Amino acid sequence: MLKSLRNQLVLAIGVVVSLFALLQGASSYHFSVTGTSALLDRRMETLATHLRVDFNEGILTFSTPTATDTHDLSVVVWKNGEALPAFANEPSPLLPRDAPLGFTTPVLDGEKWRLYTRRRPDQLVQVAQRMSVRHEIEKRASTRTLWPIFVLIPLVWIAVLVVVSRSLRQLNRLGRQVRRIDANRLQALPLTGVPNELLPFIRSINLMIERLAHSIETERKFIADAAHELRTPLTALQLQADNLQREIAPGNRERFRELQGGITRSSNLISQLLRLARADAPPTGQSMTRAMASVDIAAAVVNAIADVLPIAMQRNIDIGADEMADARVYAIALDIDTVVKNLVGNAVRYTPDGGKIDLSTRVRGTTVDIEVKDTGPGIDETLLPRVFDRFFRVSADSEGSGLGLSIVKAIVTRYDGTVSLRNRGDGQSGIVATVSLPVERDGTV
Ligand SMILES: Nc1ncnc2c1ncn2[C@@H]1O[C@H](COP(=O)(O)OP(=O)(O)O)[C@@H](O)[C@H]1O
Ligand SMILES: [Mg+2]
Repeated sequence: MLKSLRNQLVLAIGVVVSLFALLQGASSYHFSVTGTSALLDRRMETLATHLRVDFNEGILTFSTPTATDTHDLSVVVWKNGEALPAFANEPSPLLPRDAPLGFTTPVLDGEKWRLYTRRRPDQLVQVAQRMSVRHEIEKRASTRTLWPIFVLIPLVWIAVLVVVSRSLRQLNRLGRQVRRIDANRLQALPLTGVPNELLPFIRSINLMIERLAHSIETERKFIADAAHELRTPLTALQLQADNLQREIAPGNRERFRELQGGITRSSNLISQLLRLARADAPPTGQSMTRAMASVDIAAAVVNAIADVLPIAMQRNIDIGADEMADARVYAIALDIDTVVKNLVGNAVRYTPDGGKIDLSTRVRGTTVDIEVKDTGPGIDETLLPRVFDRFFRVSADSEGSGLGLSIVKAIVTRYDGTVSLRNRGDGQSGIVATVSLPVERDGTV
């Protein structure tokens, strides 16, 4: 639980504030007790000073100019020269007449008292109060000062929790932004609206993103250059082989054809590598914006079908389009062609003779789905997540390079689209490949 920064902060601030509140409570309780005690003394003093004893209808009574409630006080008045008190209110204990003047705290009948003794011209006035009563009054008055603190402490905890959570929400937002970064989306994090404390952190992340983008770009350029350099000698090799063909002895023809096949596969691989390097290039630059146009999805599908139709017919594969939505995307036409042709090419390559391939395009909200469904063997579920990896092939003896789907993914990602492959799941074996691209609106993606 304490691994969370929020909990640590809330706990630390909450404990410190609560400790201060408790200290404050204790000191205000203490001051209130001494203050109340002083007030009670003042009351005894006032009573002793202003007390008037009258002889009223044969009974001695006392009155005070201030309307003080005196039921908790014992009052005794001694006249000079008389042995017994001239007046004592009910029920008064016998107060020590010889007590020193002023305040004392004697023990009378085993109980502690507060006693005030005052000398007047012909009288000695004594006012006394039980200490237990005083403590009770002091306690009642002082406990009241603690209530605000007991109410405030939970409120402070709630306030701290709210404030800390709100401040840390910025961190969570940042976390989400960082999570979205991948090789295809290497964009610097925005610095606006970021708290000062987080700025160095974000700047470091942005530096890292920059370095990462640079090294990915270097790698991509290297692949592109290598493929480009290899293409020329391979083309020369192919030409030489074509020229040699006529001079090959009949006995060597089969081996020579294998050699030619190898050269063709190599140049296909080189072309795929070049295409991948191009699809991986950052989607900036004027050349890209210039080549962008409104591309008809249905036309791209028809093109792809036309491309494979001769092979499909030869292998008795039934290929057709059932649902064709009228949708356009803002893209480079060649990119969209490459995507659809790769998916259709896979379907034809991996579907056995006599199979069926269905194509469809559907608009769903702001995206258009292009779907290619075949009746091939499908792909083992455990291997499915890897089909977009470079050079990955389910079976090593298939003719492909393992780069087709990587190219599809790279292209689709740069248009903010997605691509997925799944097994049909309708009782029949086969793959459903789906590409989703944002439909064009007002001449943009
Ligand atoms: N429609 C499909 N049916 C069965 N397997 C497929 C299908 N599409 C792709 N695969 C598998 O995924 C691998 C990767 O596909 P891809 O990247 O296009 O490379 P390849 O050049 O081998 O076609 C293929 O080698 C194949 O094993
Ligand atoms: Mg392929």
